[in-house]
Amino acid sequence: MCGIVGYIGQREVAPLLLEGLQRLEYRGYDSAGIAIHGSGTGKNAGLRTAKTKGRVRDLEERVPERFAGTTGIAHTRWATHGAPNDVNAHPHLDADEKVAVVHNGIIDNAAELRAKLTADGVTFVSETDTEVLSHLISRAQAEHLEAKVQEALRMVEGTYGIAVLHSDFPDRIVVARNGSPVVLGIGEHEMFVASDVAALVSHTRQVVTLDDGEMATIKADDYRTYTTEGSRTSTSPETVEWAAESYDMGGHDTYMHKEIAEQADAVDRVLRGRIDERFATVHLGGLNLDAREARSMRRVKILGCGSAYHAGMIGAQMIEELARVPADAEPASEFRYRNAVVDPDTLYIAVSQSGETYDTLAAVQELKRKGARVLGVVNVVGSAIARETDGGVYVHAGPEVCVVSTKCFTNTAVAFALLALHLGRIRDLSVADGKRIIEGLKRLPEQIDEIMRAEDDIKKLAEDYARAKSMMFVGRVRGYPVAREASLKLKEVSYIHAEAYPASELKHGPLALIEPAVPTVAILPDDELLDKNRATLEEIKARSGKILAVAHQEQEKADHTIVVPRNEVELDPVLMGIPLQLLAYHTALALGRDIDKPRNLAKSVTVE
Ligand code: F6R
Repeated sequence: MCGIVGYIGQREVAPLLLEGLQRLEYRGYDSAGIAIHGSGTGKNAGLRTAKTKGRVRDLEERVPERFAGTTGIAHTRWATHGAPNDVNAHPHLDADEKVAVVHNGIIDNAAELRAKLTADGVTFVSETDTEVLSHLISRAQAEHLEAKVQEALRMVEGTYGIAVLHSDFPDRIVVARNGSPVVLGIGEHEMFVASDVAALVSHTRQVVTLDDGEMATIKADDYRTYTTEGSRTSTSPETVEWAAESYDMGGHDTYMHKEIAEQADAVDRVLRGRIDERFATVHLGGLNLDAREARSMRRVKILGCGSAYHAGMIGAQMIEELARVPADAEPASEFRYRNAVVDPDTLYIAVSQSGETYDTLAAVQELKRKGARVLGVVNVVGSAIARETDGGVYVHAGPEVCVVSTKCFTNTAVAFALLALHLGRIRDLSVADGKRIIEGLKRLPEQIDEIMRAEDDIKKLAEDYARAKSMMFVGRVRGYPVAREASLKLKEVSYIHAEAYPASELKHGPLALIEPAVPTVAILPDDELLDKNRATLEEIKARSGKILAVAHQEQEKADHTIVVPRNEVELDPVLMGIPLQLLAYHTALALGRDIDKPRNLAKSVTVE
């Protein structure tokens, strides 16, 4: 959500920043802007900016050839305060155009600060919260840029990842982090800063991730980190796990298609090195939960948002089934706002692809403050949620660039299967059942490939279902989280209205919506509930509803069936979601949607 990139070094900065913005565009795409230290004299000296509503390619057209310089910052925005337009786009300048700020996050007391500054004679040009920072830094009394930024930040409440240029200090960029990620990229006689390693990896894989409350000054040949209070901090660069190619489209037309297609490999990765055939269990090195704790816990509560929450619902069922401990999932965005009873015997698990989602992070922080044990099931290594939690399971899906989650959802469900098996084998799951689940896990990559081979058939179905005015998704127990996730996927990328219900709830109201123009997608695993699910199909048919079934064999009552390979019943939800990702993808394609960047959305929601 909002992307920041900055560079200081020997190379022409504008093309580097534009390339970085392209890589970050999935974080926000309603406006973009750039500020550089001009390299000339006279009117080419000082700060030069270009910004625009729209995409990075629109910004490119506004950046003139003569935009020369070797130091600059840039931003791609997802609007929070103020409409997406040219004026509200970042960078934001002070009145003298000496300070430029790009910002990711929200300044909570912006209205109050704006009123004070206005009373002091400052004229604001934008409606953004960020502009207060430019004025505060410009008016700070301190001598050095670092101290000016610190002075300004002391007045600010809220979250930020910022990068600051000042025309009196052309040899440096000052950055600060509180709640929104900031990563430094360490090169040879050049330094980068970004909100996400995606913008850096084509230049350097040596990175330093700032902590909350930490700042940095980057110069062409060195960097130093310190706290917002001014004490030095010690940091040494780490090597990014993923090469630049992992962030490319790899011959696919969209990231969504690439990420759906690579799920067999992604699942293989989450399993790799973790299965212990001898003891019919798995090793989860970073879990940090000993056997006594695993046996003594009395509940498991899983927290996440959106697709991560849906993967958590699957996880809760797996944990309850395999480890026989009561488990449930709740949206982190709800949990954090209610005065939940924090129970010392409950194990809390935060789930997040990005590890940055503010609602999930806030829930973790609240739980930690109250002394709870919190683990993470997270994709991005070293992300804020990974660092705040006491331990956990990395999802190893690799970089997910499409705004809508696909491979990460699937890998998270598999990571939960590993966790459930691990807990189960410490508690009361038999060796035979442990072996059964392990065999099922090992079959997943090949079965995912089998599903992908049916893509052409699913594409044809999607072209037909794309005419629907609304769609219902239903499933019972294991099928219900799959229905929820498939419904979310469809509405996100195709903009077709969709609802998900437990199949048994249909008769309690939503059946009123069923008619030929409102088809139902029914998830029917071959489990103990199959007959009940078939009865639901009868109910829908009796109301002239059209049905697309996802099942292990053709369903007589359905108009169409997508047949999915059988696995162990506990693992069925992992596979049954995949054809429905393809259905959402091809429906969106048929409707000509902007698949990787759906309207109004951004990846990693780092604001409340
Ligand atoms: C849906 C989607 C979102 C995210 C949600 C949580 O396709 O991508 O619903 O799942 O915003 O994000 P993470 O997992 O990064 O915490």
